[in-house]
Amino acid sequence: MKLTRNARLILEKRYLRKENGVPVETPEEMFMRVARAVAFAEKKLNPNLSEDKLEEYIERFYTLMTSLDFLPNSPTLMNAGRELGQLSACFVLPVEDSMEAIFTALKDAALIHKSGGGTGFSFSRLRPKNSPVRSTGGIASGPVSFMKVFNAATEAIKQGGTRRGANMGILRVDHPDILEFIRCKEDNNELTNFNISVALTKEFMEALARDDYYELKFGGKVYQKLKAREVFDEIVSHAWANGEPGIIFLDRLNEGNPTPELGEIEATNPCGEQPLLPYEACNLGSINLSHMVEDGRILWDKLADTVYWSVRFLDNVIEVNQFPIEKITEMVRGNRKIGLGVMGWADMLFKLKVPYDSEEAVDLGYKLMSFIQKEAVKASESLAEERGSFPNIEKSIYRGKKRRNATCTTIAPTGTISMIAGTTSGIEPVFALAYTKNVLDGTSLTEVNPVFEEYVRSNFSPKEAEQIIARVAITGNVRDIAEIPPEVKRVFVTALEIAPEWHIRMQAAFQRATDNAVSKTVNFPPTATKEDVRRVFELAYELGCKGVTVYRSGSRESQVYVTGTQS
Ligand code: CDP
Repeated sequence: MKLTRNARLILEKRYLRKENGVPVETPEEMFMRVARAVAFAEKKLNPNLSEDKLEEYIERFYTLMTSLDFLPNSPTLMNAGRELGQLSACFVLPVEDSMEAIFTALKDAALIHKSGGGTGFSFSRLRPKNSPVRSTGGIASGPVSFMKVFNAATEAIKQGGTRRGANMGILRVDHPDILEFIRCKEDNNELTNFNISVALTKEFMEALARDDYYELKFGGKVYQKLKAREVFDEIVSHAWANGEPGIIFLDRLNEGNPTPELGEIEATNPCGEQPLLPYEACNLGSINLSHMVEDGRILWDKLADTVYWSVRFLDNVIEVNQFPIEKITEMVRGNRKIGLGVMGWADMLFKLKVPYDSEEAVDLGYKLMSFIQKEAVKASESLAEERGSFPNIEKSIYRGKKRRNATCTTIAPTGTISMIAGTTSGIEPVFALAYTKNVLDGTSLTEVNPVFEEYVRSNFSPKEAEQIIARVAITGNVRDIAEIPPEVKRVFVTALEIAPEWHIRMQAAFQRATDNAVSKTVNFPPTATKEDVRRVFELAYELGCKGVTVYRSGSRESQVYVTGTQS
């Protein structure tokens, strides 16, 4: 297998089966373990399947992954064919307004985190701070204080699990505690295991457009009226200050809800790409787009074939998935949501020589994702012929049709699997073309984007190439590299050089062809203003995005990404 050094390190650290802390399988054996577990669904669904045919499926799935053309989300790689057997990354749990229900949700979240899944919650049903508690005569502490309990629990179980548990906390903009919620991560050391998002309602967006007041209410009672503009400003200035809160457009999430009869969507998973009903889970997988291009052309046939096998793979995952909570098993089996997405979009654009911030790229993004969406639905329909539609189909918007999965597509961040695949994450532009990182033993290592490296090595002498890469590793970009011609510089554009509007336009293009949502961070340079953030929020709404996350470089003390060694 062609794995980068980095990929091997990640696999060894987190994914390979270990005994006494030592890996007891190779990456190839890991992929075989996963392929076998996933192909087992073929046998389960069709007991007459011959051994030869089963071996064929195993081989298919093995090649699908070892070619790095497709990878499932991390929990599938970590847990398939093992005792935990929990294969999904995304969960939403309900938080009802009683002590018992709150702590049930907390326990369920702990079980999910242990297996590498992330949990999203809406805290909107919790009564506001200082409301009476009938049974004790005391007063309620409100959503934010309960979030702190969830955060502390996540912190405590962090060490034992497969990876750090991640949470999404959501509050409706009309909840009486909304201002406290917007401010709850002002201090970067608070609620560190949570991403937070404000759920904006249509009513709120309309009040904002009219520059009017809107009502904060709970349990049928109006608590207060606030100027929509003032609350929006508060969200904008906090997002500008350190990236939180994000926003989601609640009514739009529900317009995309395939099973409205089964309930309302009130939350998403931690990174925002997967809106789900309470107790629903979704397993994700992503196609490596950098493998779908050759000699400057997109390999549409290969892409179609890869989509088919990826959908079959993800549908099989549902069949063999083991959840720690019975209600989740029921919901997942009923709707059979899967989320096929992409990674390596920026690498694909590099190979096609199309700048990320161009009309051409946005149009191509839409065309490409529409193709994937169409092929994924086709695959889901053919699986329905073979295996039956998802059981709740008659309670869904697909009533009278055939479809195996209530949703087929999601654009995940692919934070780790893109590193395993050695490509750029999700639909994000590259953050740095090269950067130097310090490795544990005190030495430093220069990481270079492989497509950029290929360009440099084939256009310059070995010595010049080394020098160029060393210079790019300082700033992360090619702006000041005189040897590189302007049209090439235009193609190898990096995240902070791209105007925020283009980030949103790209997100919107992919969203238009995606069932679920799109994970995307709009990166701002440190000099960006609050007005810039506001414009991006408004544009996202105008263009039909389901939510937005922004991040202004340098605005958090400990930054996740670094551009080159200078910043
Ligand atoms: O690349 P990988 O499959 O590891 O995950 P991702 O695409 O970056 O994230 C997909 C989803 O996994 C997130 O939206 C979360 O729901 C979940 N996740 C998590 O629970 N904990 C993490 N540390 C990372 C991701």
